[in-house]
Amino acid sequence: MDMSEAKSKIQSAKRICVSTGAGISAESGVPTFRGSDGLWKNFRPEELATMDAFLRDSKLVWEWYLWRREKIKEAKPNAGHSALINLAAKVENFTLVTQNVDNLHREAGSAGVLELHGNIMRNQCMNCSHSDYDLIEDIPPHCPACGNERYRPGVVWFGESLPQDVMQKAFDASADCDVFICVGSSNIVYPAASLPQVASEEGAYLIEVNPEPTPLSEIFHASIRGTAAEILPALCE
Ligand code: OAD
Repeated sequence: MDMSEAKSKIQSAKRICVSTGAGISAESGVPTFRGSDGLWKNFRPEELATMDAFLRDSKLVWEWYLWRREKIKEAKPNAGHSALINLAAKVENFTLVTQNVDNLHREAGSAGVLELHGNIMRNQCMNCSHSDYDLIEDIPPHCPACGNERYRPGVVWFGESLPQDVMQKAFDASADCDVFICVGSSNIVYPAASLPQVASEEGAYLIEVNPEPTPLSEIFHASIRGTAAEILPALCE
């Protein structure tokens, strides 16, 4: 029922905004944050994903990010990522927003992805703003441009602001779409979790793709309980 109504809303939409979280990459083998084997079950965010942690022990923080990079490098985009490429090609105006840092949307071929939390493959200097995607060999590394040791992974840490321009585009696309689709997010981390709420306030039709309910499920018109790789190809065909 939900599925057929959701499909017909997608087919008639001119503007679609899709927002993805860790769940879309689960079937590619990238662990989520809050699932039973999620990253935050085994690691403490404040020891690894904050500026304080980096200033206290940059080597430990880099070791953790390089371990995650290695795991992510082994991962390939799945049918869920690919389905969004097909959808983008069909609709007049398409925006893809992600909380994921894993690069899999780009790898699948999505262009113009709004990466709210940065990209784990990127390195960023806090001193001279140099940024690159180079391999890190010695840890902790130094900025290749200015030599400073405040050279960090290009992701957003707890307590940090999201990139303002990216966030603004994500809010604009959410406010200005006919259909908003949220895939694989627990919808508890803000400001990302505000996006479906903005879309709802502006009258969009809201679709959630997630095997589990979330605290925002009740604002969605269609809550499709299944995995991204199984549901998205059928939803976007
Ligand atoms: P979470 O780990 O909080 O939530 C993952 C969601 O994906 C859950 O609601 C699962 O039910 C769902 N899920 C699991 N497998 C799925 C599948 N195969 N298909 C579809 N959905 C599935 O991940 P996020 O909501 O992305 O932030 O987490 C948000 C932010 O919290 C992350 O970006 C990260 C983290 O702390 C930063 O690092 C700044």
